[in-house]
Amino acid sequence: MMFPLFYRSIHPMLTLHSRVSRKFSLQAAVSSGPQEFRCSSITSTRIRNLNGAVRALKLEKPRSFYGDSVIVADDDKYGNKQVISVTPQLYKYILANVREPEILRDLREETTTMRGSQMQVSPDQAQLLAMLVQLIGAKRCIEVGVYTGYSSLAIALVLPESGYLVACERDEKSLEVAKRYYKRAGVSHKVDVKHALAADSLKSMILNGEACSYDFAFLDAEKRKYHEYFELLLQLVRVGGMIVVDNVLWHGKVADPLALNDSMGE
Ligand SMILES: C[S@@+](CC[C@H](N)C(=O)[O-])C[C@H]1O[C@@H](n2cnc3c(N)ncnc32)[C@H](O)[C@@H]1O
Repeated sequence: MMFPLFYRSIHPMLTLHSRVSRKFSLQAAVSSGPQEFRCSSITSTRIRNLNGAVRALKLEKPRSFYGDSVIVADDDKYGNKQVISVTPQLYKYILANVREPEILRDLREETTTMRGSQMQVSPDQAQLLAMLVQLIGAKRCIEVGVYTGYSSLAIALVLPESGYLVACERDEKSLEVAKRYYKRAGVSHKVDVKHALAADSLKSMILNGEACSYDFAFLDAEKRKYHEYFELLLQLVRVGGMIVVDNVLWHGKVADPLALNDSMGE
């Protein structure tokens, strides 16, 4: 079992698919959103003076500046690395500065009135997904878990005209909204909606000879099946392609050995 992937997180997990071994796949937690962090805040840090000597320094910033948003790796091996979590104030700043096309904003606002609206990715996450697709020059993409289409539309909008996104979703009602927005955005021809159970769709794509033919996949469906989806996506995405998995760090359970044992036993 390579990734403990059962938990919803604001952070997607990125995986570069490597031919060498899955064990060597690169993972990176990126992006984030508003959530409650219970972590110890920084109380001291260390600085290196001009002579190279290291000394402990009491943190001088007022606590309200950092709040509980700074975590320090307690291991000297990591140089007491500080990791900043996202506070509501910081997240507000991110949202205020994200580039969200008008059509995505309309879709997000329409979805807000629907059941399950919290499931759609946030504008900053959508921007990240779109950027990744562009950075790797992806043409053939897969999304598992479409809902009303926010993330898939963000991807479809940046795909080239010859680009192609397979959008897997089981819920007809949310797909109706997604399709309406694909049409309005003029990207319907790039999106192949598969209204079925995602595992069935992915399996039939493999049987159809599409293995190793996709550049990018975004996994954002029900968590209990993540391992199955991930294995199927590993077959469909080409070597050097990218699989982005949402929810990996949700509630921190991924780092909880007890939770991991439970999930492995399922
Ligand atoms: C978190 S939402 C996806 C949100 C979407 N990526 C967005 O940004 O708007 C998860 C979606 O996965 C769908 N889903 C759950 N299980 C599924 C399955 N077995 N097959 C296909 N879709 C499934 C749900 O119906 C739901 O719409």
